[in-house]
Amino acid sequence: MNTFLPVTQIQIPSGFIDLGIGDPQLSLLPIELIRQGAENCFAQNDLSFLQYGAEQGNGYFRLALAKFLSAGYGSPVEPESLFVTSGVSSGLDLICTLFTQPGDTIFVEEPTYFLALRIFADHGLRLVPIPTDEEGLVLDALEEKLAEIRPKFLYLIPAFQNPSGHTLTQERRERLVELCQERDFLIVADEVYHFLNYSLQPPKAFAAYSGVRNVISLGSFSKILAPGLRLGWMQAELSRIEHLVTCGLLDSGGGMNPFTSAIVRGIIENGELEKHILSLKTTYSARLATMDAALRRYLPGARYTIPQGGYFFWLRLPRDADAEELLTKANEFKVSFRPGIRFSSQGGLRQYVRLSFSFYESQEIEEGVKRLRQTLEKKVTWYNPHL
Ligand SMILES: Cc1ncc(COP(=O)(O)O)c(C=O)c1O
Repeated sequence: MNTFLPVTQIQIPSGFIDLGIGDPQLSLLPIELIRQGAENCFAQNDLSFLQYGAEQGNGYFRLALAKFLSAGYGSPVEPESLFVTSGVSSGLDLICTLFTQPGDTIFVEEPTYFLALRIFADHGLRLVPIPTDEEGLVLDALEEKLAEIRPKFLYLIPAFQNPSGHTLTQERRERLVELCQERDFLIVADEVYHFLNYSLQPPKAFAAYSGVRNVISLGSFSKILAPGLRLGWMQAELSRIEHLVTCGLLDSGGGMNPFTSAIVRGIIENGELEKHILSLKTTYSARLATMDAALRRYLPGARYTIPQGGYFFWLRLPRDADAEELLTKANEFKVSFRPGIRFSSQGGLRQYVRLSFSFYESQEIEEGVKRLRQTLEKKVTWYNPHL
């Protein structure tokens, strides 16, 4: 491949296994569904999908999306409460533009999604980390920080978190919704993995609380259909939606992605999206089981909780381990991962490693974990045989 003409964001040298990649594998992207959806659009006489779109997003698309979400969440979603985005990333960027000023403070989970940290940095925001445990955000720690400072918003990934895989409990969700009203800060819930649940039905999505003015839920088709569509949504209380809809970006460019919305609308309406998600869940849960078995076999001392959805394993190495050092050495064995430090807003989490099971088939997942073991055994001074 010509490296001057990259075609995807990530370029992988041949023979290399990068277990750090948190993208879906190309072969899992449903080209036939998208082809069919596009053909249906092209066959109709209505060309409005090629025109500047309504600022909030195409009304028929929002209607279809609302039905899909109502069934998925098990609680009613109104099309008026939905705003179409170009994915969670664009939603986060817009929220920062409209609701913050450079120098404002926001709260983030520790660890958190590393690329959201980049978006927040672009907006000059000051980050305060809030610790998490296996049940998600630690609310006592949050309340302590709230006593010192009121953030503009709290960004969190409540279900099958990236990178930890943890899910915020129902009890904590309810308390958080109370807190955001008592202390007047915004909850920005990135629910991108909510529908990729394998062995746990996640608690009520924050979308279910979006009637509360201080709650915004973000969703995306990147993980349940295809990232290249650049399509997602926000769900929020109507006055927030009004604020979003009247921004300059949309005044000039119109609503986001009318073209791909029209294609995806058909895929939702004919029930194919739901079927596709079921098939993804079967594939990913098999890969998760393979990664878990490989970790038990090759890295029996690594500590982790088995994820119940999403894409990731979050491993804790021994106390004196340095995942960045391991990463440099791992290159020699043609394997890679994401070191924990990238998910810390404070340069911490050095002994953690994120592995993903979304991008490779089972055989490569097993081989990748085996190569990690070889790297540890042969190259790393802090290796101990129980790891
Ligand atoms: C937690 C989280 N949020 C957002 C994104 C990006 O979403 P989108 O493609 O909808 O911008 C990702 C992708 O890996 C993610 O893991």
